[in-house]
Amino acid sequence: MHDSDDMDMTRPIPIPAGVGAGPAAPRAAAPAGSHGGGTDAGRPHSMQVRNVYKSFGDSHILQGMNLDFADNAITTILGPSGTGKSVLIKHLVGLLAPDAGDVLIFGQDIWKISEAERYELRKRFGVLFQDGALFGSMNIFDNTAFPLRKHSNLPEKEVKEIVMERLQEVGLEKAVKKRPNEVSGGMRKRAGFARALVLNPDIVMFDEPDSGLDPVRTSLLNDLILQMHAEHKGTYMLVTHDIRTARKVSDYVGLIWKGQVVHYGEARAAFASQDPFVRQFLSGESAGPLGMD
Ligand SMILES: Nc1ncnc2c1ncn2[C@@H]1O[C@H](COP(=O)(O)OP(=O)(O)OP(=O)(O)O)[C@@H](O)[C@H]1O
Ligand SMILES: [Mg+2]
Repeated sequence: MHDSDDMDMTRPIPIPAGVGAGPAAPRAAAPAGSHGGGTDAGRPHSMQVRNVYKSFGDSHILQGMNLDFADNAITTILGPSGTGKSVLIKHLVGLLAPDAGDVLIFGQDIWKISEAERYELRKRFGVLFQDGALFGSMNIFDNTAFPLRKHSNLPEKEVKEIVMERLQEVGLEKAVKKRPNEVSGGMRKRAGFARALVLNPDIVMFDEPDSGLDPVRTSLLNDLILQMHAEHKGTYMLVTHDIRTARKVSDYVGLIWKGQVVHYGEARAAFASQDPFVRQFLSGESAGPLGMD
């Protein structure tokens, strides 16, 4: 694991964005009143990060991070290894508290509400962790049903209907009885995705959904992300190192470097940008202002 200081660049950091994009134009027209993150005028953004700082001992990971996520859109976060992308996700889902700054979810500061309220808020999230984070002892069906059984009082018959619908959508209806170690990495990711969606979340986060997948499976997973977003709406945040993934799925991109958001904006504009810093980030080339120390 690198630490946050293992890269440097030879020019000043561009003006940190921290900018809110305002309501996004959703990729597929969102029906009015859809269950997504909220594009209604006056409604708070689904996720806002305000001047957040986080250190672990002498490692200063988040250093004044600002980001308003566009509602009902897919935002991809890119940044070198060890810059705090996973730490950011943990702040957003309420697993890590900031040293300073605010994390607002639907306008509520998740660290200023009660534990019970935070627990309720978490039901509105679906998270696909890097390794799928499935329970090894449970089959794919029980893994997918877990959040429903834990957070809802639905009768088992309805649990089964919902779980089978989600598993069909991700193409796993024939693997329900298999344990995670009996299926491929791509299938585990898809199971994690089905589980992340099972509570019909307003916000879905993916931490490197494509890691460990071959290019074809990555491409198929990206199609699935787009398809599920078009169907279920919601605010999606995706962390990836894969530029092709970012190019394919993003409505917006945020670039993180040295604990700050150094660029945030529409994906199309970012990929067309002539800014050497943004270009190097989005092309993954070694030549450019970003360099190893
Ligand atoms: N709970 C923790 N205690 C101490 N240090 C931590 C903790 N969580 C993260 N870190 C450190 O914070 C830094 C950022 O970690 P993080 O996992 O967010 O990086 P990342 O940007 O997700 O990297 P990658 O692209 O490799 O997944 C790392 O140096 C990591 O070791
Ligand atoms: Mg990470």
